[in-house]
Amino acid sequence: MGSSSLAVRPTSRRLPRSVLLLTTTLVLLILSQSSPFISSVFSHHSPQELAHRSQILTKCAYTRAKPGPPLHFHARTQSDRYTENMKPVLVRNATIWTAANGGHEVLTGDLLMHRGLIKAVGNVPLTLLDELELESTNLEVVDANGAWVTPGIVDLHSHIGVGSAPELNGAADTNSFKAPILPWLRSVDGLNTHDASYELAIAGGVTTAQILPGSANNIGGQAFIMKLRPTTERSPSSMLLEPPYTLNGSHFDHSLTPRWRHMKHACGENPSSVYGITRLDSGWNFRAAYDTARKLRDAQDDFCAKAESGSWDDLSEKSFPEDLQWESLVDVLRGRVKLSVHCYEAVDLDGIVRLTNEFEFPVASFHHAGETYLVPELLKKTWGGTPAIALFASNFRKKREAYRGSEFAPRVLSEHGINVVMKSDHPVVNSRYLLHEAAQAHYYGLDPALALLSVTYTPATAMGMGHRDLSVGGIDADIVIWSSHPLSLASTPTQVYIDGIPQLSPLDHYVAKGPSTLPHMPDFDAEKAATVVHEGLPPLEPRSVKGVLFANVSGLYTRSGGSSGVVQVSENAGAVGVENGRVVCIDQCSDFAEGSVEMVDLEGGTIAPGLTSFGASLGISEIRLEPSTNDGRVHNPLDGDLPSVLGGKVIRAQDGLMFGGRNLLLAYRGGITTAITAPSGTFLQGISSGFSPGAAHARVENASILDEVAFHVAVSMNAKAGVSTQIAALRNMLFGEGGDEVLRRVRKGETTLVVDVENADIMATLLRLKDEYEAHSGEKLRLTFSGATEAHLLAHEIARAGVSVIVTQSKPFPETWEQQRILAGPPITHESLVTALLKAGVNVAIGIVDEYNARNTRFEVGWFLRTSNGAIGRTTALALATTNLEKALGVQREMPQDLVAFRGGDVFEFEAKVVGVISETLGRTDLFV
Ligand SMILES: *[C@@H]1O[C@H](CO)[C@@H](O)[C@H](O)[C@H]1NC(C)=O
Ligand SMILES: *[C@@H]1O[C@H](CO)[C@@H](O)[C@H](O)[C@H]1NC(C)=O
Ligand SMILES: *[C@@H]1O[C@H](CO)[C@@H](O)[C@H](O)[C@H]1NC(C)=O
Ligand SMILES: *[C@@H]1O[C@H](CO)[C@@H](O)[C@H](O)[C@H]1NC(C)=O
Repeated sequence: MGSSSLAVRPTSRRLPRSVLLLTTTLVLLILSQSSPFISSVFSHHSPQELAHRSQILTKCAYTRAKPGPPLHFHARTQSDRYTENMKPVLVRNATIWTAANGGHEVLTGDLLMHRGLIKAVGNVPLTLLDELELESTNLEVVDANGAWVTPGIVDLHSHIGVGSAPELNGAADTNSFKAPILPWLRSVDGLNTHDASYELAIAGGVTTAQILPGSANNIGGQAFIMKLRPTTERSPSSMLLEPPYTLNGSHFDHSLTPRWRHMKHACGENPSSVYGITRLDSGWNFRAAYDTARKLRDAQDDFCAKAESGSWDDLSEKSFPEDLQWESLVDVLRGRVKLSVHCYEAVDLDGIVRLTNEFEFPVASFHHAGETYLVPELLKKTWGGTPAIALFASNFRKKREAYRGSEFAPRVLSEHGINVVMKSDHPVVNSRYLLHEAAQAHYYGLDPALALLSVTYTPATAMGMGHRDLSVGGIDADIVIWSSHPLSLASTPTQVYIDGIPQLSPLDHYVAKGPSTLPHMPDFDAEKAATVVHEGLPPLEPRSVKGVLFANVSGLYTRSGGSSGVVQVSENAGAVGVENGRVVCIDQCSDFAEGSVEMVDLEGGTIAPGLTSFGASLGISEIRLEPSTNDGRVHNPLDGDLPSVLGGKVIRAQDGLMFGGRNLLLAYRGGITTAITAPSGTFLQGISSGFSPGAAHARVENASILDEVAFHVAVSMNAKAGVSTQIAALRNMLFGEGGDEVLRRVRKGETTLVVDVENADIMATLLRLKDEYEAHSGEKLRLTFSGATEAHLLAHEIARAGVSVIVTQSKPFPETWEQQRILAGPPITHESLVTALLKAGVNVAIGIVDEYNARNTRFEVGWFLRTSNGAIGRTTALALATTNLEKALGVQREMPQDLVAFRGGDVFEFEAKVVGVISETLGRTDLFV
């Protein structure tokens, strides 16, 4: 690894030292039994006593040995995970990113995998094939057709297996809730092999993951590294990679190089909320634990010093000081554990850095680490060297300690020479889309080589497995062949090999076809600088102007007016003049330009309709886990907690709206010009409202775009009341009389009933209820499903009933039982939920679940465009988050012609940057540059 910012001490350099230490001890031991001088010292002891002493000396030497790759690792001729059925594979004509040379080496050529190892990369000599006795009969040849190949994706932070998908109480083994300090626990003891996530993560190219205990505890226990592929033994242990020898027996050969161990620590809000403690308590918890470990280590060292100086008399009747509860923390102090520390804020990071210096132990990686980019000099003070920093790309602001997280953190940290890792915290971010996190980091300015390293070599090194990565010789055959450039939007594996074994069924894969070249990175220099200056909270308010001349505009897309649709007005508009939030000239703008209007160069970019966001609590929730920042939940009448003072009135989201929030303004800056939000509740939710995310407050003219949109309820298998009870209540509301006026409008088919529903059987029941109601009342029931993960199972029935579907989980995941029958999308299935429903003739729209994700709507649209394999075009893609969505929610007014100006590159790629909103709603143009 050439790059200084990535300089990692080769693990192999440590090897000779430990080997030397061991050999010295062994030689001494042998001498002690054979040399006349030394044997005279020992001569009056029994053979048993001598054996006992030699055992102690070996153990003492082992306590000082440093972990590293197994001896002769790079001379292996077959993988330690080799099994009989592994067929050699020759991948021909690939563009191979090897991770070598600081992430800059790209080889064009072939790659040979044999007995679970990569035997040659780039140029595979014929002589090698002969040498290995490989002929066309016993060699599988894969033509990559120039496609990109990378090492397997490595997830430094995953909870695959210790939880389960779907989530079930019977497999909730991520955390122990017994005490804050539990270094003796091991994630492997809860490793469930039936988690649906394994297959999904592999389909995203993930081959190796560190399985961490959760963050409920200050010290949650030991972590393990695993390869995700199924094994013939089907046991959790057989999936582990280089587990410590002690995992499988108390007696092992102490002359072996120790293997890396792994452990999780967590500070901040999670342990505080679980144990009702504060950061002050956490600080003491850590210090008390390390003090215990330090005493044990010192006792061991004293014991060994006496043994090694031959003071056996002092040791008679004593045994080597050991304590199974604390031995792993002693290994941390001995520098033999790759420690992963979950820590967000400067206050927490500072506490851990002080702890490392007080007790002198290294940290391999800080995780989540929302504020690390603000304190790079502090990180460098960590004892033993600067840890790697493991981040999300854009999942921020859900809790206070994540509030200052920034999309620019990867770039800022790398500019300080700190190693950056993108991680999933699966299932928090679905591990399947870990590469997508790296692609986002690149979009926001992380160097492309570092972005690819951030999910391959850098995490592999942070877990002590760097020796197995593609960048060095003799390594594991874990590779991925990608459908497009790995940093482009929706790049998808066409094949994944783990230990040389293909993991995807060799069907005719439909995968996302994107560009084979690196997306053009936009210029976020000013935003990045402001983020650091303002400690993560840069002002996000736009600069409003009356008139602007947008120069160098390529495509111009607008809403077609009337009923629905988005149309392309011009393929090469040239100049577009706007005034008071409206387009006043296209191309012929010389008169307009004569005025003193501001000019903004779009550098070949596009002007397109602003998108509409639905599904999250935008505008009624600022920091989800901080009740004082939110509108709060709606009472659930089925739980018997509906206050009588409400008099049966339904809650209106409009009454709780808060403007100027960070998710809202970031959404606006991401091209969202209308947010439609429903009150958040289980079962009865209330009436949604549509508003402009760019307005400063509710009294700005046209801040409210749609006072009342639809009536929302949720029917879920996860609610306190049963599904049939919820349906009975819904039936009663429909067939009954009275109640809020909105109910009367729903009964008359004037207002749309939107039901949050995931499960296909519940959807079928709702379709039957619709039929029943319509037969009974003679009125039409306008019905829309939101969420609808399993809707593909009855796509045709939904289409026939004229029910719209809003897909809110655009990247499907079987999180709960009621969502388990996902349509996984390429490369697992040909169709995605969106394309399957579109093909059945359903009006389909997309929404979101999390507020932070509103800004990414455009990339979600792009995702469907790319993964549809040509089934949908750009205007249909745009309609998913505009006209189709408004239709699904029953919006009856003609929506304002709010447009978004994108600078440079493709809107549906990690390229173009939003530089302004031309807001007919607000009668102005808002610039972000
Ligand atoms: C490799 O693939 C590229 C892209 O499909 C193709 O243009 C080229 O001819 C191929 N080269 C060989 C040697 O097959
Ligand atoms: C565990 O130990 C047993 C008994 O020594 C041995 O047969 C087995 O191969 C070991 N398994 C692993 C995974 O090391
Ligand atoms: C428009 O932008 C493109 C892309 O940056 C550039 O190549 C071209 O020269 C620009 N044209 C004008 C007239 O500025
Ligand atoms: C508010 O919207 C109406 C149309 O819905 C428009 O006529 C009016 O100009 C808008 N107000 C501003 C300040 O743009």
